[in-house]
Amino acid sequence: MKVQIISSSIRDGRDTHGIALFLKNWMDKNTDAETNIIDLKERNFPLFHERLSFMKEKHEGAVKFSKEIDEADAVIIVSPEYNGSFPASLKNVIDLLYAEWQKKPIGLAIASSGDMAGAQVTKDLQFLLYKIGAHVAKARFHVAHVGTAFKEDGSTENEEFYNKHAKSLWENLEWFIKANQ
Ligand SMILES: Cc1cc2nc3c(=O)[nH]c(=O)nc-3n(C[C@H](O)[C@H](O)[C@H](O)COP(=O)(O)O)c2cc1C
Repeated sequence: MKVQIISSSIRDGRDTHGIALFLKNWMDKNTDAETNIIDLKERNFPLFHERLSFMKEKHEGAVKFSKEIDEADAVIIVSPEYNGSFPASLKNVIDLLYAEWQKKPIGLAIASSGDMAGAQVTKDLQFLLYKIGAHVAKARFHVAHVGTAFKEDGSTENEEFYNKHAKSLWENLEWFIKANQ
């Protein structure tokens, strides 16, 4: 079973990448899935100008991304809240693909520096993913005060709390994976 974690923030000094590392560690310890992080900061995608299937000269990074999403049994999206929504870096890559997202089980891990833990992002992101044809898990992994919640290496002082939420996200995602088989 393959799971891709998309780490969305490309911001200098970003804090949410620690969540992607935490979830990958949790997946490696607690599941049989082969889990990989797609780090959008590292990938450095150009600004969207056309969907991959319509590109005359296919962008190498987009082709790789297409294969990774297509072959994944599930995708976990780690997104910060920027002005009540998700960052442009994430929309930039979701729009690149279409067929690859169909019925794809997707788990959301959303964070903000405030008390609301990125709750406002959910509505926009769930609708976007529903509209494109993915299956978004109801269980979500929310992180408040993200600047202090996770260290750069993905460790946290609230391991018990976040382990519980990672388990609940994964159990819900697994349901969708099995439903797809
Ligand atoms: C452009 C921008 C807009 C933001 N808007 C919000 C917001 O609406 N609500 C909130 O609670 N935090 C907001 N924040 C704080 C971010 O959620 C926080 O800085 C988080 O660490 C961003 O993720 P990142 O560090 O991985 O980029 C904003 C941050 C940025 C950079």
